[in-house]
Amino acid sequence: MTRMKVAHALQHGEPGTRVDIRGWVRTKRESKQGVAFLELNDGSCLANLQIVVDNTLPDFATTLHDITTGTSLKVTGELKESPGKGQRVEVLADSLHIYGTADAQTYPMQKKRHSFEYLREVAHLRTRTNTFGAMFRVRNALCRAIHDFFQSRGFLYIHTPIITTSDCEGAGEMFQVTTLDLVKLARAQTEIDFSQDFFGKPASLTVSGQLEAEIFATSLGDCYTFGPTFRAENSNTTRHLAEFWMVEPEMPFYELEDNMQLAETFIRTILAEVLEACPEDMAFFNERIDNTVLDTLRNIIDNEFLRIPYTEAIDILRSSGQSFEFPVAWGHDLQSEHERYLTEQKFRRPIILYDYPRTIKPFYMRCNEDGKTVRAMDVLVPRVGEIIGGSQREERLDVLEQRMHETSLKPADYWWYLDLRRFGTVPHSGFGLGLERTLLLLTGMANIRDVIPFPRTPRNAEF
Ligand code: 4AD
Ligand code: MG
Repeated sequence: MTRMKVAHALQHGEPGTRVDIRGWVRTKRESKQGVAFLELNDGSCLANLQIVVDNTLPDFATTLHDITTGTSLKVTGELKESPGKGQRVEVLADSLHIYGTADAQTYPMQKKRHSFEYLREVAHLRTRTNTFGAMFRVRNALCRAIHDFFQSRGFLYIHTPIITTSDCEGAGEMFQVTTLDLVKLARAQTEIDFSQDFFGKPASLTVSGQLEAEIFATSLGDCYTFGPTFRAENSNTTRHLAEFWMVEPEMPFYELEDNMQLAETFIRTILAEVLEACPEDMAFFNERIDNTVLDTLRNIIDNEFLRIPYTEAIDILRSSGQSFEFPVAWGHDLQSEHERYLTEQKFRRPIILYDYPRTIKPFYMRCNEDGKTVRAMDVLVPRVGEIIGGSQREERLDVLEQRMHETSLKPADYWWYLDLRRFGTVPHSGFGLGLERTLLLLTGMANIRDVIPFPRTPRNAEF
C-alpha cells in the first residue's frame, strides 16, 4: 500500500478502501467509551484527517499514552464515511506506528494560540501551525501563478546574478561580499586593497536583477528574473526585509503605458489565480486574520487601477485636509501614510502613480521632456502601499551618462550597461514586484516577517 496524502484522502478517498496515512498529530481526544480520536495533519492541506482508534487495537493504552501533540505517525486503516460534520471521511485505524514522540513538557507548539512574535522565535516549528501552513501553500501558489503568467505569454525566465559589482538602485544600500580578513585589516589599520579581494574589486549582494535583465530583453525579448534580492536599509518596519524575493519582467519596445498595462494585468491575474488555487487557505485568512481580505482582493481583481501623475497626487494630498505626520511637498517621496490615504480613503483601489521627480528616482529611468520628471511608475495597493516599482528605461546614451554624473555614478563602472545603448538601443521598460508585499496583500497578515520562511531583518538572521 502506498502512502496517501491527507488532502487526497479528504477530497477523493473512497469509503471502504484501506489507506496508509502519515503525518503529525495536532490533537488527541479520548472518549469514555474507550475510543480515541486523533487529528492528523501532513501539510498537504489546512484540514486534518480524523483518525479513530478503537481500544481493541493491540497495545492501545501504551501507544495512546505516547501520542501527544506533535507526535509523528504512520496510520493504516480503513476509510469510513465520517458521521462528524465538516469532514467527508475519517480513518478507522488498524495499526499505528510512532516515528517520533514529542515531549509535551518541552514541545514549543502546544495546542493553543501562540502570538506571531513567539512563533518567529520558533520559525523551525511554526510551519506546523494552521496559519503558517496556509501561508506557505499560498506562497507556493503565488510563485506558480507568477511563472504561469509569464510563461503563457512567451516570457523567458532568466537567472540574474546574486553577487554583483554594480549598484542597480544607486542607493548604496548593499551588503558587501568579501573574503578579506576583516579582523586582520582592522588591526593593520591600512587602506583596504580590494585588488586582493576575491573578485579583485568590491562586490555585493544584488539589490535587483534589472540591469542584467535588460541585457536579455534587448536580445532575446520579453523576459523575467525571479529571485532573492538584498537591501541593507536599516528600516525596521513591517514592510521591509533585508532579504526579499522580487519578480522583474523586462520588455523591449514597451513604453511606460505598456508597462503599466502589463503590471495591472499581472497583479489582477495572479491574485485571481491564487484565490482559485487555494480556496480553503484563503477562507482561513479571511476568517482568522483579516475579514476584509477577500473583499479587498475581489475589488482589485474586478476593477481597473487608477493612473495618476505624481504631481497630481501631491495636489490631491495637499488639498485633502488630512493632517499627515510627514509633510507633503513636490520632490519628496510619498510616505506610507500618504499612500494609504490615496488607496484606502480617497480612491479605495490600487493606484499607479507615474512621472516622479527625477531627483528621487534611480539613474536608469527615462527623462521626460519637462526636464523635471522621469518615466517612473509605482503601483500602490490598499493596506500595503508600494507593491511594484518600475519605469521606462533611459535608452539614450548621452542622457543616461548625464544622469549617472548627476547621481555620482561612474559611467566606466557601467560600461556594459551603456553598451546596450551604444549598439542597437531600443525603448524598453520593466518593473519589480515584491513577492512578500504581495503576500501581505493576499493574506491580510500585518508583518512581512510572517510571510517569508526565514526573515532577515536588522539584528536577526536565525535559522
Ligand atoms: O521599487 P524597487 O526598489 O524597484 C527596483 O528594484 C527596480 N529595479 C525594479 C525594476 O524595475 N526591475 O523595488 C521593487 C519592489 C517594491 O515595489 C517592493 O514591493 C519590493 O520590491 N521591495 C521590498 N520588499 C521587501 N523588503 C524591502 N526592503 C523591499 N524593497 C523593495
Ligand atoms: Mg520603489
